[in-house]
Amino acid sequence: MDIWHIRGGNCLEGTAQIQGSKNACLPILAAAVIAPLRCELLRVPKLSDVDAALKILRCLGCTAGRRDETVYIDSTTLSACAIPHELMAEMRSSVIFMGALLARCGEAWLSLPGGCRLGKRPIDLHLKALRALGAEIEEEGGELHCRAGKLCGAVIELRFPSVGATENAMLAACGAKGETIIRNAAREPEIMALQDFLRALGAELEGAGTAEIRIRGFHPRGCVQFKIPADRIAAATLACAAAGCGGDVSLQGLESQQISTLLHFLNTAGCDIMAQHHALRIRSEGRLQPVGTVVTAPYPGFPTDAQPLLMAAMLRASGRTLIRETIFEQRFRHVPELCRLGANIQVDGDTAEILGVERLSGTAMQATDLRGGAAMILAALAADGESIVFDEGHVRRGYEDIDRTLENLGASIFLEHEGEDNGFNTAVQSSARR
Ligand code: UD1
Repeated sequence: MDIWHIRGGNCLEGTAQIQGSKNACLPILAAAVIAPLRCELLRVPKLSDVDAALKILRCLGCTAGRRDETVYIDSTTLSACAIPHELMAEMRSSVIFMGALLARCGEAWLSLPGGCRLGKRPIDLHLKALRALGAEIEEEGGELHCRAGKLCGAVIELRFPSVGATENAMLAACGAKGETIIRNAAREPEIMALQDFLRALGAELEGAGTAEIRIRGFHPRGCVQFKIPADRIAAATLACAAAGCGGDVSLQGLESQQISTLLHFLNTAGCDIMAQHHALRIRSEGRLQPVGTVVTAPYPGFPTDAQPLLMAAMLRASGRTLIRETIFEQRFRHVPELCRLGANIQVDGDTAEILGVERLSGTAMQATDLRGGAAMILAALAADGESIVFDEGHVRRGYEDIDRTLENLGASIFLEHEGEDNGFNTAVQSSARR
């Protein structure tokens, strides 16, 4: 158990470097098995989800290790095409190994993936795409057995621009004979990152970032070096922290235009934003203006991952903000926890109404999922007094040293791994534990 101790009320000031992207890195780690190759990945964030992907690679017979921010993978030694249930359950992105293993081995044994509980998270679009390429997939009791004597290029029309299904289809298509066209493909920056990596591996493909991706063929190169792009949601998190706490924060190493929808709302809320290509400066008085209605949507719309983060920033706004969540059916599980701080939020179906309050007061909360847990930390930073966030490891699945990053910006935050001694008020902790 991780226990985040936060003393709220400090303004944030200073500069932070943005970590490598979790959501770009995980599909790229899966892609490393599509051909026998050695690769060196730079700027790989230290996250428990990345550790889980490295465990999967080792379990498949690959060599996978890390030195500082660089991960080395040798997939020439791959000797298995089955992933045990306990590794599949560690994260959602384990499902992307399905397309990669089919491309490499023509077979994959795995089970339904884990990940944040955000309501139903079906994989029917993944399976439909792989079947269109010629895979036979049997599902029984959560176990999946995929086989393809030969994968053949096809036209894949996605009912919804699912990020995961697009990634699985791209990887499997690299092992197919003939051209594949993915229509209504997801346009997220992580799809562009995967395209860039696959091109470095020798794949011939184009269109990532648009709704149509074409994969024409694959002539593997043996050795690749690739730098993981910056994490747009980690950048969004720090931008929302600065907005909600007040202060003057510069973020470096990000692609600001990837979070332009969020920056638009923070600007409407009264933040002063100076965005350059690889840097962003955000200045805020702390008490924001309401921003009207925010609706989550596939990229380039407002990201579902940033929804809890913007909500945290708006809790003390001087009026009403509405947030409509259209991607995941249960992505307001953080709301009852934020209300424990004194926030005024009403949820009706897919919409949350936030009525800004003047003050939030420190309390104990329980992290519900990765971004929900991060939102609790942000809200606690803007609250009076001490807060505690109990967390079964959700936040560290996606953020590298977020406590140190925030501390360097002037926040008072301390991460305790349960069982270790710390200087904080353990009386608050024991009375608050539920
Ligand atoms: C989603 C986000 C992505 C984010 C990631 C991590 C969207 C569109 N996707 O990607 O930006 O980085 O979470 O938090 O915002 N669906 C199906 N059948 C499927 C697959 C998905 O019905 O086979 C539905 C899901 O139930 C959901 C929607 O499609 O309503 C989005 O799913 P998808 O993009 O696949 O989710 P992730 O890949 O997890």
